[in-house]
Amino acid sequence: AGNTGMEQLIPIVNKLQDAFTQLGVHMQLDLPQIAVVGGQSAGKSSVLENFVGRDFLPRGSGIVTRRPLILQLINNNYEYGEFLHCKGKKFTDFDEIRKEIEADTDRLTGTNKGISPLPINLRVYSPNVLNLTLIDLPGMTRVPVGDQPVDIEAQIKDMILQFVLRETCLILAVTPANSDLATSDALQLSKQVDPEGKFIAARVACCILNLTLVDLPGMTKVPVGDQPPDIESQIRNMVLTYIQKENTLILAVTPANADLATSDALKIAKDVDAGGVRTIGVITKLDLMDEGTDAREILENKLLPLRRGYVGVVNRSQKDIDGKKDIKAALQAERTFFLSHPSYRHLADRLGTSYLQRVLNQQLTNHIRDTLPSLRDKLMKQMLSLEKEVEQFKNFRPDDPAIKTKAMMTMVQQLQTNFVRAIEGSGSANIN
Ligand code: GDP
Ligand code: NA
Ligand code: MG
Repeated sequence: AGNTGMEQLIPIVNKLQDAFTQLGVHMQLDLPQIAVVGGQSAGKSSVLENFVGRDFLPRGSGIVTRRPLILQLINNNYEYGEFLHCKGKKFTDFDEIRKEIEADTDRLTGTNKGISPLPINLRVYSPNVLNLTLIDLPGMTRVPVGDQPVDIEAQIKDMILQFVLRETCLILAVTPANSDLATSDALQLSKQVDPEGKFIAARVACCILNLTLVDLPGMTKVPVGDQPPDIESQIRNMVLTYIQKENTLILAVTPANADLATSDALKIAKDVDAGGVRTIGVITKLDLMDEGTDAREILENKLLPLRRGYVGVVNRSQKDIDGKKDIKAALQAERTFFLSHPSYRHLADRLGTSYLQRVLNQQLTNHIRDTLPSLRDKLMKQMLSLEKEVEQFKNFRPDDPAIKTKAMMTMVQQLQTNFVRAIEGSGSANIN
């Protein structure tokens, strides 16, 4: 058999991703996907734009990406973008895509520049792209601290979240009476993991049967400017909800001109993927390293080894962007940079944007293939519960949500069939 089945895997998962976004949170599956994480200005958006060969992401100072962007790249002869929230409208002007991302971000987060975990789903059809789905997440901001470990607040918060995010964990919210209840760390946290408080009863019940109390360190307070007081942890938690999922590959973007040991991206990736099994390292800004230094050791995967290794890239500088330097020219310059650099020449075939794109296409395809059996089981379970739901609503009203559910179920069933075909089609394919 040829490779035809395998090539269908990413598009099928894209359809599932859209279907589940439309169905709402209770239908979320742990779909195989790639989340892009890194500090502010690490170069995450630049990497995504280079894949497409177009400027289409919001830019500026501060926290620009304020909602996750699920970017589905689809190889196609004819180039355009399409949003799930306005399906059918073809965007051929990529400036309009940027404006639509900004408008839809503001629509949900308001004007206070807050963040929202509700993703924007964007498909880009283009002859320049390989089928690939990536999630662009907000960059993590740094908290200025006194003489405490730089990330003490986040470290503690993470530790706590690992426990309280479990449905079976009782939250004992201890708040001193002589302080302002409205700013109680404990209450804020429980509200965060259980906004409507609707799991409190269930959790109490669970814990009576299975009583486990965990005593955890108290949370330190973040000194703030005029940002939402918990913006940093909000972002961190949002990133974590994505990268905690076992089926998510993590694209950890780190600038070469900063200390690798303190990379936001590598640190958070390590928190959820200690063995470095599902993390792919991307090193940006190789052109900005100090004279006489290079990133050879890390790119050869010798310094902080990851099972999937590192790929180095050179994106456009701010000056290039301001001067409207064409991405095609930038990709050519990137290639020349690697071929002419004494430390990178020998690696040139495994460096750069187009190599990264190919690696990600391959790794995501293989990753989907590997996670397929368990995904199929989960899909079957989802379908059974959908069937039950439809059964319940059948004699209700002709215009009730069951109709939508039913349509969605049919779609899920079709996808399921396609999945089976895709796997069977790839049964004897040559897979790297
Ligand atoms: P994000 O916040 O991680 O999405 O980062 P951006 O992609 O918006 O990049 C932040 C800034 O760094 C922009 O001014 C980019 O032009 C610049 N930049 C990103 N990657 C590189 C690179 O490889 N080389 C150079 N010289 N500048 C880069
Ligand atoms: Na940015
Ligand atoms: Mg960005």
